[in-house]
Amino acid sequence: MSSMESAPLPPQASEADDIIQGVLTENKSKFKTPNQIGFYRRQKLLLPGQSLYHAQLDTFKIDDAGASLKIIHQDTNVPYQLQVIALKGGIVRLKIKEFSPLKTRYEVSDVLIKETATERFSVSKQESDNVVLDYQNGLYKLHIAAHPFSVTVTQEEKALLSINSQGLLYFESGVSSPPGSVATEGDIDAPQDSSKEEFGLWKEESGDRSLTSVGLDFSLHGFEHVYGIPEHADTHRLQDCGDSEVYRLYNLDVFGYSVCNKMGIYGSVPLLLAHKPSHTCGIFWLNSSETMVETHYKAALQTEFSQAAPVTRKKKAVPMVDVRWMSESGIVDVFLLLGPAPQDVFNQYAQLTGTQAFPTRFSLGYHQCRWNYEDEADVEAVDSGFDEHHIPYDVIWLDIEHTDGKRYFTWDPVKFSDPLQMQKKLQEKKRKLVVISDPHIKVDPNYSLYAEAKEKGFFVKDRNGEDFVGTCWPGSSSYLDFTNPAVRDWYSSQFALDAYKGSTDALFVWNDMNEPSVFESPEMTMPKYAVHHLSWEHRDVHNLYGFYQQMSTSEGLIRRSGGQERPFVLTRSFFAGSQRYGAVWTGDNKAEWEYLKISIPMLLSLSVAGISFCGADIGGFVGDPEPELLVRWYQAGSFQPFFRAHAIRDSKRREPWLFGEGNTLLIRNSIEERYTLLPYLYLLFYRAHVSAELVMRPFWVEFPKNPETFGVETQYMLGSALMVAPVLVPGVSSLDVLFPGPKELWYNFRNYKCIKGQRKQKVGVTLDEIPVYQRGGSIIPMHTAVGKSTGWMEETPYKLHVALNSKGSASGELYVDDGHSFKYQHDRMFIYRHFTFQKNVLSCKSAKNTGHFSRECILKKVLVMGLKKMPSEVNIISPGKEKTQVTFTYSHKLGLLTMESLSLDASADWEIHIVSSC
Ligand code: GLC
Repeated sequence: MSSMESAPLPPQASEADDIIQGVLTENKSKFKTPNQIGFYRRQKLLLPGQSLYHAQLDTFKIDDAGASLKIIHQDTNVPYQLQVIALKGGIVRLKIKEFSPLKTRYEVSDVLIKETATERFSVSKQESDNVVLDYQNGLYKLHIAAHPFSVTVTQEEKALLSINSQGLLYFESGVSSPPGSVATEGDIDAPQDSSKEEFGLWKEESGDRSLTSVGLDFSLHGFEHVYGIPEHADTHRLQDCGDSEVYRLYNLDVFGYSVCNKMGIYGSVPLLLAHKPSHTCGIFWLNSSETMVETHYKAALQTEFSQAAPVTRKKKAVPMVDVRWMSESGIVDVFLLLGPAPQDVFNQYAQLTGTQAFPTRFSLGYHQCRWNYEDEADVEAVDSGFDEHHIPYDVIWLDIEHTDGKRYFTWDPVKFSDPLQMQKKLQEKKRKLVVISDPHIKVDPNYSLYAEAKEKGFFVKDRNGEDFVGTCWPGSSSYLDFTNPAVRDWYSSQFALDAYKGSTDALFVWNDMNEPSVFESPEMTMPKYAVHHLSWEHRDVHNLYGFYQQMSTSEGLIRRSGGQERPFVLTRSFFAGSQRYGAVWTGDNKAEWEYLKISIPMLLSLSVAGISFCGADIGGFVGDPEPELLVRWYQAGSFQPFFRAHAIRDSKRREPWLFGEGNTLLIRNSIEERYTLLPYLYLLFYRAHVSAELVMRPFWVEFPKNPETFGVETQYMLGSALMVAPVLVPGVSSLDVLFPGPKELWYNFRNYKCIKGQRKQKVGVTLDEIPVYQRGGSIIPMHTAVGKSTGWMEETPYKLHVALNSKGSASGELYVDDGHSFKYQHDRMFIYRHFTFQKNVLSCKSAKNTGHFSRECILKKVLVMGLKKMPSEVNIISPGKEKTQVTFTYSHKLGLLTMESLSLDASADWEIHIVSSC
């Protein structure tokens, strides 16, 4: 479809099946290439060079709220206000906006969790053409140059990051572009010829509005690794964009997206991280309109900043990354996260946007999904299949066909005639149900949800002020305006048990198609001219739409429990801050090896951008996986944060037992391994929630001083203790595995053999399992057995895997609570234990921030790996009790001590003393 002339007509056909078929078979090459994106083309006409923006230092002001000054564009004389704000904890915020805009610009409001406390800058120098501000007692300095305007952040007189040093600050100050004419803004002219339609889709993009795009450049000094800005089906380390490529952040429904591609897919987090051995920092570009990001690697001469003036050192070339951000509307609002360690940047980002919502325990189990489980009998048969094949699982999912004609919050009267009974049966087995709830609402006056939303004016409008109507699964649909707090409140209330007929508290929610997907619109999404609450155009808020839906859904689930229970909501579309509302998955991937491979960097990029609870469809959504691929995918997925298998309509059935006994066994093994690891996973999520630690971690985060790890995309860490090397290609009998760290020891997770760090090694692999290693120095809590679901495992005994480092010590933790409520938060109802192994003593003590909670936590077994000498005896010492001897076995070959018949209370204090005779 070419540019939009008018709002799409409501389609005649309401045959949802035809629509679905069309969507699944149609070629989706309808997405724009960068050179079809008007604002990007316009900005690209501005080449690096002398900026035309100048700072007026006589307007410089400083107070507790920060520093401010006026910037003027030399040719247009349009004045802008620059605000520089020092936030506590290593964050500097820069805002640039017009003094008197023709129309108020959109500023993102609900993404930041609260106003972070500010610090006062002190002025360390002020001259006619530059000002130097001290931040954090002079640890960092901000050099603001006037002619042309630029800002450089330095540390110990060395440049860390500079802004507008390439002169790419760009601010379209609102010159209107009537159809058929071209837009101009000072130095930037759009092409004057007939290519303009093809060039910029001017009408579709701008309608009769003003052009308001913004852009800015950053140079990261000494860096050669940048990461982040999900979501792209591409490498974890961002690539050099060269002359023609650019990362696009524009939430789109891209069915079967292609891999190694920088086009925008379902979600956007405008956070970029830069890492070098001595420093990690981040750039958080808070803008919810379509955004393009260019990254270029280069070498540059090092600039040193003395108190006098910047000096460019002649001799030494250092690496540098240039990053250019361009957004279609909004203001320049950017946060510099100054690190200096990777975890500091994660903390700084969490300080702004929040941490991962703490998942319920069941949601860390295995999820079985398919488009669709046909009816209640099918659900029952699949559910029983897991029991018959002794495979644990927690959640069965229902896709769009469970509804009455794709009317969300309803049930197909024939296929799902007794949803309460269906959920009761699941509940009896301590299992849950997840149902889909998309944001498009079928246009049908007899559908009460539609009728009520229409009457209340809760739909997004077209430019004539009518409800916007587009096509999605149900046929003609209108779209709830989740940017409106009243709509979110109303939508939340639909999840109340008495409002949502047939729902129970065992039902949780999946938000899909929330980019939003509009089949017949350009790029299959909502036209940019559609109108939201407070008259904001869709272009201003596009990337926030899914974020708001998940926020409202999550709030709804919390409310239905009277504020007591933790929700579970999966979303396809997301933005910065979405981590606060649940989980994210990587959308419609394919049942092909390259999709398994790309899932690793995709999940790592989501993780470093704050979204810890992420996963990819196990097996690949589109197509039918060959058994080997399916097995490998389960094996990788069982060591990833969100673990769900899903398959497209009309694909062959793929429940885990349908691929022959051998494969059933392998899949069962990997799911069981996941369930034994639950205590560790739950702990990781607790730490993600309370202290912004990542669950799935790229190597560079764990080994920040070791450049060899910075480009690793095929292996990752689960927490800081487990290293996972999934098999990503078919038919292999060995794998090159990097064992990082010169001082690290790595213990095979299954046979406990030790490998020394700092080398790549070929390891043999069979189809049985993927290589996983426990890092020396860690203690992992695990379960000794598995049950039908996590619900059956609340009091399953524990074991500890103690992996000693080269100094013979290790540490770890255990976190236990009720697994589902907010009592851990409101009443501090949890058990938090700290284990250390030192000088041959394993001790169990309460962790610093422990709470109070009572739950049987029996520790049955302890393995100690890397113990050099066979003990002569092993004793348990508990306060107020007699010393007791423990039976054990010891393997000289492995240095492995095994104590199997313990019965220790992991919520009490005790010590295990390992005594050797000499
Ligand atoms: C989208 C989702 C997919 C779902 C389908 C039908 O394609 O990405 O997971 O099964 O819609 O709802």
